[in-house]
Amino acid sequence: MTRPTITERSGAAHARIWGVGGYRPERVVTNDEVCQWIDSSDEWIRSRSGIEERRWAREDESVIDMSCAAAEDALTKAGVGADQLGAVIVANVTHPFQTPSAAAAVAHRIGATPAAAFDLSAACAGYCHGIGLANDMVRGGTAEFVLVIGVEKLSDFTDKHDRGTAFIFGDGAGAAVVGPSDFPGIGPTVWGSKGEDWDVIRNKYSWVDLRDHAHVGSLEEQSPRDAMPWSYLTMAGQSVFRWAVYAMAPVCREALDAAGITAGDLDAFIPHQANIRIVDALVKQLKLPEHVPVADDIRHQGNTSSASIPLATDRMLTEGQAPHGGLALQIGFGAGLVYAAQVVVLP
Ligand code: UT7
Repeated sequence: MTRPTITERSGAAHARIWGVGGYRPERVVTNDEVCQWIDSSDEWIRSRSGIEERRWAREDESVIDMSCAAAEDALTKAGVGADQLGAVIVANVTHPFQTPSAAAAVAHRIGATPAAAFDLSAACAGYCHGIGLANDMVRGGTAEFVLVIGVEKLSDFTDKHDRGTAFIFGDGAGAAVVGPSDFPGIGPTVWGSKGEDWDVIRNKYSWVDLRDHAHVGSLEEQSPRDAMPWSYLTMAGQSVFRWAVYAMAPVCREALDAAGITAGDLDAFIPHQANIRIVDALVKQLKLPEHVPVADDIRHQGNTSSASIPLATDRMLTEGQAPHGGLALQIGFGAGLVYAAQVVVLP
């Protein structure tokens, strides 16, 4: 049998992040406010997690709304038009529809149609998975520019009365535009999974009073009951903490080695903002020199899962803690369990 040879596409020699943007909801929720619902204290929350306050989205503010705001900020900073995007990836675990994706709506709203659009479920590692994919897409020729968004509305899926999670999660969105480059701007992605611990962070379904979820009004109309099943996140905090502390430092080292640099070459370390004690433990294990600034956005934002790394990056660049054009090591880790890390050149 003779068959014609398939034509392949090839893309840019290299890819880099052109711009990073963010969206932080207006409402600040203090530790004292959280302590109205759980038996805890401002002092305990600060010392055990580093969180001083977090932000929660409005009831009528969706994952799609927050994504569009972060996307527009990132596109403006990158100087790239939405019509130049070949793909929109929305990493999240809190878009309340299994289908359709948040990404298709975001692409439409920002004017990126007919860009490819899909959601990515890798929890707190979602953004770093997205950056790895975008790098491969730009270099492989499947898209010239890719928009990677990390977004969460965790307040919708957090049980306000659960002492193990109520204080930790926050809402927000961060975005990055990845495009062609004449120098290597995104190092090799080191990623993986540990599915044997699949259930240490997961959804738990309970019956909730619809009056606590007035924003699901359309569902209320369809239901004759005043209660409906709702999903909350549960977390075996200590197990996740231990895994993050002992297993993520080697992943960081692998990402540095793969990029051919050392910890001393870094201009920023931007780990997932899960708990400041995890960040501190990683810094110690990596023997990170003191001159390398370390992201601490968790203090004001809480743990925003897939949004945490782009939001922390945006803050470090905006506040001048990290230099434009500098080298940053970023690592995401969370439910799955899954992780992804890479060295990037900051836009
Ligand atoms: O983003 C995805 C990945 N997620 C993470 O990486 C989160 C990782 N886990 C953590 O960050 C931490 O496990 C938490 C911040 C969630 C909890 O901190 P911890 O130091 O692991 O607390 P613990 O569960 O070991 O509890 C220590 C003590 C216990 O009291 P006793 O038994 O020592 O008397 C708890 O009852 O703290 C108590 N405690 C609390 N006290 C005040 C637990 N939760 C609270 C609370 N307020 N909210």
